[in-house]
Amino acid sequence: MFYNSIVETIGNTPLVKLNNVTKGVQGTVLAKVEYFNPGNSTKDRMAIKMVVDAEKAGLLKPGGTIIEGTSGNTGMGLALAAIAKGYRCIFTVADKQSQEKINILRAVGAEVIVCPTNVAPDDPRSYYSIARKLNKDIPNSFYPNQYDNLSNTTAHYETTGPEIWKQTEGKITHYVATVGTGGSMCGTAKYLKEQNASIVTVGIDTYGSVFKKYKETGIFDEKEIYPYLTEGFGEDILPKNVNFDVIDHFIKVTDKDGAVGARRLSREEGLFVGWSSGSAIHGALEYAREFLKKDDLMVILLPDHGTRYLAKVYNDQWMKDHGFLETRTFGSARDIVASRNGKDSLHTVTKTTKVSEAIRLMSREGIDQIPVVENENFVGSVSAASLLEKIIQDPHLQNKHVHDVMDKPMQFVAPDSTLDVLSSLLNRDNKAVLVRDERERVHIITQHDVLKAMSSLA
Ligand SMILES: Cc1ncc(COP(=O)(O)O)c(C=O)c1O
Repeated sequence: MFYNSIVETIGNTPLVKLNNVTKGVQGTVLAKVEYFNPGNSTKDRMAIKMVVDAEKAGLLKPGGTIIEGTSGNTGMGLALAAIAKGYRCIFTVADKQSQEKINILRAVGAEVIVCPTNVAPDDPRSYYSIARKLNKDIPNSFYPNQYDNLSNTTAHYETTGPEIWKQTEGKITHYVATVGTGGSMCGTAKYLKEQNASIVTVGIDTYGSVFKKYKETGIFDEKEIYPYLTEGFGEDILPKNVNFDVIDHFIKVTDKDGAVGARRLSREEGLFVGWSSGSAIHGALEYAREFLKKDDLMVILLPDHGTRYLAKVYNDQWMKDHGFLETRTFGSARDIVASRNGKDSLHTVTKTTKVSEAIRLMSREGIDQIPVVENENFVGSVSAASLLEKIIQDPHLQNKHVHDVMDKPMQFVAPDSTLDVLSSLLNRDNKAVLVRDERERVHIITQHDVLKAMSSLA
């Protein structure tokens, strides 16, 4: 028996029981190990599907060119599909990507155009703009757009879902996957829920991404967006492939917990997986410890392989530099909050609070800045220094509402943001940041808090 080309080996990945990281969890936890795909990731499934569907729709004809802005797993999947089907492949990548990733894509025959990172997405030099321009200029070229191309979801509906249903003999009760473009969660979840509507699905999101809040409140909250390190999931947009109707819950996982989770899967289970797999396992186990019962069967999708993360998650020095390996020299936002022993309370004002009242509150509590809240959303901030500046210009401001004078809202940071990250965020314009703890309580962290934490480490 043989396969006619490498793309025929995509799919039918194994389901492997987790035996060690699951201590203390009731029920059975299985991993769908997607690095067994030929491109070492789950994205092979949707890459070939996008190409085949484009051929059927007449968007891609013999001798055509596939163009995508990608540096990662989708690029690898598309490159394999292009080889099997005789297409040319051009990828645009940002210059922050490691040379290794670029070399991998070139190794499988792709042409890679390196574009500057530090330009806005709509700048003509950005990798988005260049991909779009190439698509316009090159005849018979196809721009798959993995975020909004629904062939992505369909690939998982047609393969990942049925595989898991068959492999578990219909006994699956919970499905967990990271959510980036949304394809691997939503296509699989839709299929599984059609077989058994009581299957619970848990999407893994990251701090700095919009999904969890959007699911829970229907609000696209730009204040949830900030840079994070984990690669492949969490977004600052709502891709068409994310179908919130088939995702029951979201759990957010920090960069650190994901990185530590990946290392645990490698060492304790022999599964040498990528960073987002660590995030998936961390979030899944958090859920499982609380909710999984003896007869339940949870399946967690592990998206890719560890080789892509040798310079990061699997490099001890990199882990230490980021405060992800326990060393005494790093404190974090979580430590600052913990040092208050639950004694802190967050003072807030609303948009309609009088400015004079906000000033009285600050002086009574001995604080220099206050978040402005509306319907539990953080919509602005006021600080003593900026109020003073404004009142000197116009003394009547004291009788106006906070709404008329407030500054932009404070940024949210992940609980494991290290002191050096916090200090780089706090400056003349951002006097404080906010952090949400595991119990969803919000705490404020000021420059003074960071200085105090740093001096206690010295
Ligand atoms: C490493 C990694 N993890 C997770 C994901 C998220 O999967 P999806 O795009 O199907 O939501 C991706 C997708 O790009 C990925 O490359």
